[in-house]
Amino acid sequence: MFDAVKPAAPDAILGLTEAYNADDRPGKINLGVGVYKDASGKTPVLATVKEAERRLIDTEASKSYKPIDGDPAYGACVQAMLFGVDSSIVTEKRAATSHCPGGTGALRVAGDYLHANHPSATLWLSDETWPNHPAIFTAAGLPMKRYPYFDAKANALNFDAMLDGLSKASAGDVVLLHGCCHNPTGVDLGPDQWVKVADLCAGKGLLPLLDFAYQGFAEGIEQDAVGLRALASKVSELIVCGSFSKNFGLYNERVGSLTFVAGSADTAKAVQSQVKACVRRNYSNPPAHGGAVVTTILQDQALTTQWHGELTEMRERINGVRSLFVNTLAQKGANRDFSFITQQRGMFSYSGLTKDQVGQLRDKHAVYIVGSGRINVAGMTEGNMDKLCEAIVDVL
Ligand code: LMR
Repeated sequence: MFDAVKPAAPDAILGLTEAYNADDRPGKINLGVGVYKDASGKTPVLATVKEAERRLIDTEASKSYKPIDGDPAYGACVQAMLFGVDSSIVTEKRAATSHCPGGTGALRVAGDYLHANHPSATLWLSDETWPNHPAIFTAAGLPMKRYPYFDAKANALNFDAMLDGLSKASAGDVVLLHGCCHNPTGVDLGPDQWVKVADLCAGKGLLPLLDFAYQGFAEGIEQDAVGLRALASKVSELIVCGSFSKNFGLYNERVGSLTFVAGSADTAKAVQSQVKACVRRNYSNPPAHGGAVVTTILQDQALTTQWHGELTEMRERINGVRSLFVNTLAQKGANRDFSFITQQRGMFSYSGLTKDQVGQLRDKHAVYIVGSGRINVAGMTEGNMDKLCEAIVDVL
């Protein structure tokens, strides 16, 4: 049976890391996958994570299964971060959270839930979006359409076209929105624009599905929730897929969350029972460790404050590197103005480089970036900046 199997195309993002690892050229640079690196080029384990792990070693009493949707304490921490502790969504118990294996796991469970419970819903994705979105929701069997988002010529959001595109969605359709740090463009809605999108969703009866993988990487935990909170104030039902991969640096622990907000506590319970059925037939129940680390930190005021400091340090380093990147490109003689990159938010810079230029970067210079021209700014350091910018200027 297996002899007839054809090799699959490598993954657009993780496949790059495989190719990078197999490359033996010295000075190679991997700016593909969205992983933070510090000034020395290492992906650190946060000090708060290490401290939480030390505490867990001492206190963990069992390796028995977790509930299908994870520990309630983890869900409470997630909801406080998403909606704020005093939110009526939390106090009225209108939200139900599942601990899922990463943001990707949360998206897939959301897709399975939608397919099983709302089979006539079409999912609307931004144009462009994270390449794994269409793959995940195709696997879940959802019909999909695109709404305009990014204007490549202006390197900016095309908000009028976005609203126009979304106005074509039908009541009961689902709209996937990036909570902040839009992946791959780094171009987000402003607060007023979020209100307009929330009004549109409320007016047309659309269900927002927020992919919120980078909370804290644009401006801060609270500030980055402005879009989510605008939606939550206008619509009574929404879905949020969260991830602690980036803001806690817990990439390989696969610690994400899937939160459904419903109109009442009873409805939230019924929906959660369907979500649990999806989880059970998929991976049964979540891996414990990452969720326990996050819960340990967020339940301890001193650790939480320290973690906010670590997150701020990551965010500020990325913003500093963004400016250095733009300035170094100019110094090296780039024939194009890249200053728009300093306006983009989060880990990624949407460079405008063509597929051909991306190929040349890899073949001639051992610089790996995503085929769409997306560059992981969080992987740049002072050490690799000159080589990177010389390579980009060469392919331009
Ligand atoms: C990325 O876009 O690089 C990250 O979200 C990691 C991934 O799984 O693709």
